[in-house]
Amino acid sequence: MKVITLNDENEIGKVIGDYFCTLLRENPAAVLGLATGASPIPTYQRMISRFNAGDVSFAKVRTFNLDEYCNLPATHPQSYRSFMHAQLFAQVDIAQNNTHFLDGNAMDEAAECSRFDALIEQLGGVDLQLLGIGRNGHIGFNEPADAFTQGSFKVQLAPSTLEANSGYFIDENMPTHAMTMGVGAILRAKEILLVATGAAKAEAVRAMIQGEITPQLPASALQNHPKVTIYLDPAAASLLK
Ligand code: GLP
Repeated sequence: MKVITLNDENEIGKVIGDYFCTLLRENPAAVLGLATGASPIPTYQRMISRFNAGDVSFAKVRTFNLDEYCNLPATHPQSYRSFMHAQLFAQVDIAQNNTHFLDGNAMDEAAECSRFDALIEQLGGVDLQLLGIGRNGHIGFNEPADAFTQGSFKVQLAPSTLEANSGYFIDENMPTHAMTMGVGAILRAKEILLVATGAAKAEAVRAMIQGEITPQLPASALQNHPKVTIYLDPAAASLLK
């Protein structure tokens, strides 16, 4: 694991956004693994400004998002599909049908998870995966568990995740379940970049990098991946020894 501490989230977004653009200039049809939450927003803003400058095109890019809420219409403003549309897709030249999500409303959940996993393999696997990390060390929506999961699955969200994300759901209850790529599938990405900022992530960051590898801290599995870079701000890095 490579660990890089930069001044703030905007500096991190600039470095990672530029890294994605460099990949797309070499491989315009790359398969990107994308994340939601506050952490990747500066990265998406950098991609948009590089697109507006004429430096990069997303026309041939294929994307897979890590996760999606269950029992929330795809058109709901807090669905992860809506998030990606607002934060990136509507502002670049990406083809809508090249953007892939788990359908959190699928009747046959197992079939939906198999469809999604098979499509990733069919398109050659994820070239570059962007990740955030939950306060409890989750990646995607892989919550602390007794075993690492492989393929996509439906998960019950942990209390700390409900607390962290409930602020996005004004006047309504947030979904209690989601579908997520499994840890095994995330680790199959050829390269992974993870962003963590703020003191609330410091303990999860310490355990991810310097703790034991355990499904109780799902991000610790990244220690087993050959090409991971962790980008931190000083607050998120504050508990590293
Ligand atoms: C969310 C997402 C994760 C994200 C994490 C941290 O709920 N499912 O993919 O990395 O929690 O979010 P944030 O970046 O807003 O702190």
